[in-house]
Amino acid sequence: NIEAQNARESLYIVSEYAATYFANEMWTGEQGRAIGLSYFKERGFREDIVKKFQLGYSPDVWDALIQSAVAAGHKEEYLEKTGLSIRNDKGKLYDRFRGRVMFPIHNFTGRVIGFGGRTLKTDKNVPKYVNSPESDIYHKSNVLYGLFHAKKAIRDTDNCYLVEGYADVLAVHQAGIENVVASSGTSLTTEQIRLIGRFSQNVTILYDGDAAGIKASLRGLDMILEEGLNVKVVLFPDGHDPDSYMHHVGSGEFKKYIENNRKDFILYKASILLKEAGTDPIKRAGIIRDIVESIAKIPDDIKASIFIRECSGLLQVEERILLSELNKIRVAKF
Ligand code: GTP
Ligand code: MN
Ligand code: MN
Ligand code: MN
Ligand code: MN
Repeated sequence: NIEAQNARESLYIVSEYAATYFANEMWTGEQGRAIGLSYFKERGFREDIVKKFQLGYSPDVWDALIQSAVAAGHKEEYLEKTGLSIRNDKGKLYDRFRGRVMFPIHNFTGRVIGFGGRTLKTDKNVPKYVNSPESDIYHKSNVLYGLFHAKKAIRDTDNCYLVEGYADVLAVHQAGIENVVASSGTSLTTEQIRLIGRFSQNVTILYDGDAAGIKASLRGLDMILEEGLNVKVVLFPDGHDPDSYMHHVGSGEFKKYIENNRKDFILYKASILLKEAGTDPIKRAGIIRDIVESIAKIPDDIKASIFIRECSGLLQVEERILLSELNKIRVAKF
């Protein structure tokens, strides 16, 4: 209905205003240039990337955005409904984002729908990222950070790189790889995978090389298989994430690394799990079952049988044993 549509339109407009305001503060504000822009430069991000993603800075003031927005004719109601501002118990309105570098989140048509704000402090008690809450225009489970800038390249290359964080999207982009998105703000959802599926059937996971990233990648790959998409994984060394690794080795080496270390999910899972299991035969048997469980998620029988054959070769287990295991899992599912 028209009223709801108008209300949503007002939320888009105030979000766009905020993105422009934060970007302006960073490029022309004294605090913004000295703190915000230098932060991105120190992390090695080029100006064209900073501009392309509309990055910005929120001044370290209680109500800088509110003052500016209201003076420009925006209603407090919409600032509140987008979560850009918060009303406290005493009824006073203040800015959610203060003294943070700002990453606007766009929907896939390019409209601003929310923000991630990163602290500049190293204090462990301050949350590293503050994100916009859900709103009538921002449904986190349906949004992929970077998709607007990536969708053409995802189609053209017929592959989508999936990373964990905002900074990873920027860094991979900066390396000349534009088909990259992040599931920021939530862990990966089925809706997000279906959204990728509108542009390509191939996903390559580039999660952090730390324990949390590896765990999330194993969960993610099962979800992707379940949606019928193909999945590969690249693991980064020494706890690096795509951003830190790109800046560590440079864009040329980074691209080569991704090309040469892309593993299909069986090889990836096997290498991760075998490292954990060591030589314990019972643990090794558990791994085989675990991998067959992933294969069982693939809806296409022909594809599944090809992976069974690969698994058989890789783990030195007879194909017919793997197949009977596969059937057991499938029967148990229904
Ligand atoms: P940088 O330090 O800026 O490179 O961030 P990162 O993306 O490498 O962060 P990290 O690997 O620690 O976390 C991955 C993602 O989890 C981030 O991009 C955020 O989306 C999210 N995240 C990290 N810290 C927080 C936090 O304190 N609060 C919330 N809500 N999300 C966070
Ligand atoms: Mn991490
Ligand atoms: Mn990270
Ligand atoms: Mn990082
Ligand atoms: Mn870096």
